[in-house]
Amino acid sequence: MTPGNRYTPRRAAASGLAAIALACGSALIWHAPAHGGMEIEDLLPPEQEYLDEDSRREQAQRIEQEREAARRRAEARAREEEAKRLREQARLEALPPGERLIRENCLACHERQDIARTGRSRLSWRGTLLRMQVFQDARLSAEDRRRLVEHLGREHPPTTGRVALEVTILVLVAAIPVGGFRTWLHYRRRSRQ
Ligand code: HEC
Repeated sequence: MTPGNRYTPRRAAASGLAAIALACGSALIWHAPAHGGMEIEDLLPPEQEYLDEDSRREQAQRIEQEREAARRRAEARAREEEAKRLREQARLEALPPGERLIRENCLACHERQDIARTGRSRLSWRGTLLRMQVFQDARLSAEDRRRLVEHLGREHPPTTGRVALEVTILVLVAAIPVGGFRTWLHYRRRSRQ
């Protein structure tokens, strides 16, 4: 055993004292009152710091008043929250059914004014809604889709330019099968000759 490690009475006493100090410290921390359970008595400085009993009572009163005011503020805040909730509920109930459908089905991803940006024919609105369902995970029943098409078509009708664009697209799309059919007819006739 090296001299540094030797067990001596002094060392034993020192480690004993350290252990006792540690235990007392832990006990103190363990028993410290939780803030929520504090009494006014705990918040006041110790009695000997006061000149007289009156000032002590005064301070106790001030603390009690503070608490009362805080309680009233909390109550006022709760009332305000409740009133706001009721106003929002009334506003939602006053919305036209079409707007409510938009709110429930579209506003998770869009701002309301983004949906209004392009006016469309009902046919095009139907296509947009189908696209939202197929590619964007919007959930619409057939009935809701029908009502939404009606609502959007009425609220956001197409401009003249938009109508021209839609008609052009329709003609081009229709031309594909027609052109294909005519080509098929042409080659069939040729192969029969
Ligand atoms: C899950 C998210 C999501 C939901 C729900 C959703 N959309 Fe969209 N929407 C998108 C995204 C992403 C785009 C852009 C990509 C695209 O055009 O396909 C878009 C594009 C659009 C556009 C622009 C299309 C264009 O051609 O310029 C319109 C209009 C639109 N959405 C309307 C709606 C309406 C009306 C609803 C409610 C029925 C809806 N969206 C629900 C995600 C969503």
